[in-house]
Amino acid sequence: MKRELVIVLDFGGQYNQLVARRVRECNVYCEIYSYKIDIEKIKEMNPKGIILTGGPNSCYDPDSPTYSRELFELGIPVLGLCYGAQLMMHVLGGKVARPDVGEYGKTEVLIDKPSSKIFENVPEKTICWMSHTDAIFQIASGFEITAHTADCPVAAAENEQEGLYAIQYHPEVLHTAEGTKMLSNFVLKVCGCAGDWRMDSFVEESVKQIREKVGDGKVLCALSGGVDSSVAAVLLSKAVGAQLTCVFVDHGLLRKNEGDEVEAVFGPKGAYDLNFIRVNAQQRFYDKLAGVSEPEKKRKIIGEEFIRVFEEEAKEIGAIDFLVQGTIYPDVVESGLGGESAVIKSHHNVGGLPDYVDFKEIIEPLRDLFKDEVRKAGLELGIPEYLVYRQPFPGPGLGVRIIGEVTEKKVRIVQDADAIYREEIEKAGLTRGIGQYFAALTNMQSVGVMGDERTYDYAVALRAVNTIDFMTAEAADVPYAVLQKVMSRIINEVKGVNRVLYDLTSKPPGTIEFE
Ligand code: XMP
Repeated sequence: MKRELVIVLDFGGQYNQLVARRVRECNVYCEIYSYKIDIEKIKEMNPKGIILTGGPNSCYDPDSPTYSRELFELGIPVLGLCYGAQLMMHVLGGKVARPDVGEYGKTEVLIDKPSSKIFENVPEKTICWMSHTDAIFQIASGFEITAHTADCPVAAAENEQEGLYAIQYHPEVLHTAEGTKMLSNFVLKVCGCAGDWRMDSFVEESVKQIREKVGDGKVLCALSGGVDSSVAAVLLSKAVGAQLTCVFVDHGLLRKNEGDEVEAVFGPKGAYDLNFIRVNAQQRFYDKLAGVSEPEKKRKIIGEEFIRVFEEEAKEIGAIDFLVQGTIYPDVVESGLGGESAVIKSHHNVGGLPDYVDFKEIIEPLRDLFKDEVRKAGLELGIPEYLVYRQPFPGPGLGVRIIGEVTEKKVRIVQDADAIYREEIEKAGLTRGIGQYFAALTNMQSVGVMGDERTYDYAVALRAVNTIDFMTAEAADVPYAVLQKVMSRIINEVKGVNRVLYDLTSKPPGTIEFE
């Protein structure tokens, strides 16, 4: 059976992966490509539909990203969103310009053509998320206006006969009340997709692709025990079995007892056959990190050391052809590799490989997925729920939860504090209700008094956030009594700490990690 595919052409907008994700939520498989993709490649893929994303440019500037008219003449339905909508009009002979006022934020849209396939089961007045400085002033010939707002005469337009749809707002953003409905109308009603794609199809498809790519090559997987790399490892083991070796580096920046726990699950005595090798490299990492406070520098050091350890391990194992990494989409976008958008910080497991690498190629089977999608894939692979719903833990580990210089003593403090915090959250039955929670160590020492003695010790920061996709997050409302208990246990049980703080910051402006 031929798989149904919708492609998203990335013109540099902030929400591009969300578009793909929403399409997958409609049970239609979706992939993202740069707008630079050749038309021949598109024809070869023969997608059921094409979606053009938003982007920061003005489509009438000669240097702005564009696409040839042919794209709209393939007989494949096209949906243009924001910049994509403007570009569609511009290329097909309409007029786009800068009005006196832009439109930003929640806006009421009035639907002029309720019979439009895109607006099936959508109320005639609905709230949408607008974010544009340019606007469509004149639609191209063959189009009709299907929706407007108080400030924007063309909020949506279509050429039904040609299957061309232009939407000025962002249906992919949850603030657009009926956005998912509209996207679903596009892929199901306009493109005629069956909507029968599931995560198990992702697993099946990935296994097939990996087998094709790897052939009889040898594969090395960096297994951290976190959700992402565990799902990647089990996926790979399903695809290439004994050709896979998993190396678990204990970099000394793991949570308390985590090294042994990972070994118990994935090692020779566990449920999987992963050719598991544990490397105890703690001291190497501490030595490299000595005296370094700058967060990006720490990340780079940890990342590079990781690669070095792998290289050495790979040499022991013999020639390796492929290296697997559990990179997921938010890692990609925040490292600035997500098509056309901006760099926030470098995740050690993306890009940034040192010059000398002994592997032929990197395989990142989860690169297009959001966290919750990775979890679904994990369940499809038969990984037990308690592992699949494990909280995320960053590759650089406690290196990004200790502000300032990382030392063995600080690692011990944050491990102990974090273990208490997790234990109390579990006891209170809150684990599944909070997206991510952990203790971090601030670089602040302050005066306290304990048992009549003056202390000058560290402050531990507790973080707990709720998030859907880890791109945005809000501080979780952990009951005060639980926080108080955690505070008192940390102060009493963890030597070197005399203050406990709770971080209320959301993301943005904060990040989830504390570095
Ligand atoms: P931030 O701190 O960027 O975190 O808001 C977003 C999510 O990503 C995790 N994170 C990482 N994961 N390697 C990873 O695999 C990293 O370098 C890294 N840094 C942050 C973080 O725990 C959160 O879930």
